Parts: sequence; structure tokens; C-alpha cells
Amino acid sequence: MEKTQGKRLAQYNVDLQAIVDKWKDKEGNLIMILHDVQDKLGYVPRDISLELSRMLGVPLARFYEVLTFYNYFKMIPPGKHNISVCLGTACYLKGAPALLAELERVLKIKPGQTTLDGMFHLDLVRCVGCCGLAPVVVADGKVYGKVQPAQIGGIVNDCLKKEKVA
Ligand code: FES
Repeated sequence: MEKTQGKRLAQYNVDLQAIVDKWKDKEGNLIMILHDVQDKLGYVPRDISLELSRMLGVPLARFYEVLTFYNYFKMIPPGKHNISVCLGTACYLKGAPALLAELERVLKIKPGQTTLDGMFHLDLVRCVGCCGLAPVVVADGKVYGKVQPAQIGGIVNDCLKKEKVA
């Protein structure tokens, strides 16, 4: 059992002991530890929560309380390419819901989900500070402004083009 868990942890390449040592005497350390894990891995895998629960002597349920309370934390791997639709007021009024519907149709996933091949993750954001460009879509950190639903396919293709270059 121990061996199997050790093998599963090895795939993550994260030094949990160093993270625990860094935060163990600080107040509110659980959330900081989970932040560090997510910074390194992009999400908090169940195996990591299990191991941290063992190391810290904190029930696994407490980890899940924190992970589900804060939207920031992800428990599934993020997609290789992350696409976010801004649903802040300006974007919403200028047609963001239609962009979201088109992305859901093209990628066949809902916000918060990752495509089965792990290629795309779809998210919602609330104002990225470019309201003058509303409605806005952010794909792999690039801001697309005044987006029309017909341009969604092109944005997805821009992400895929990076695959071919790589
Ligand atoms: S509301 Fe979308 S960028 Fe501000």
C-alpha cells in the first residue's frame, strides 16, 4: 500500500516535505501549503492531499473543505491550453454569453471542465481590466477583444497552431 502510494507520488515531482517544512509553524498553513502545491502542479491531485493529510495529521475532509471553498483551487489537471470568457458586466452586456455558448459547443465542455484529451480547459473570469475591448476572451494569456462568436473557432485554432510549432 505504502509502496503504491509512493510510486503515485513520484510522478508529481514535488517536494512535499520542503513545502510542509516551510509552512508547518505558520498560522493558516494548510491553505498556504495547498497554494504552493497548486503553483507547482497547476492543481492539487487527490494523492497529494492524501499524503499531506498523513504528513500533517489533518483529516482529508479538512483538505476538501478548503479546496472546495476557494474557487482558486483546482482538483483536476488544467488543460494544456486555457481559455477564459470574461463575464464581467461590460463583457456580459456586449455578448459574452454567446461566446461562452460557442466555446461550449466547439470544445464540448462546460466552464471548469477540461476536454478528455487534456488539451483545453474552459473557465469564466470576472473582468480582466480590458472593458473597452468587451467582450473579451483570454486564451493562453492572450487577450482577444471585441470577439464575435464566429471568431471562436479561430481562437481555438491559434492555440492548436502552437502545438504544430512545438
Ligand atoms: S468586464 Fe470584461 S474585461 Fe472588464
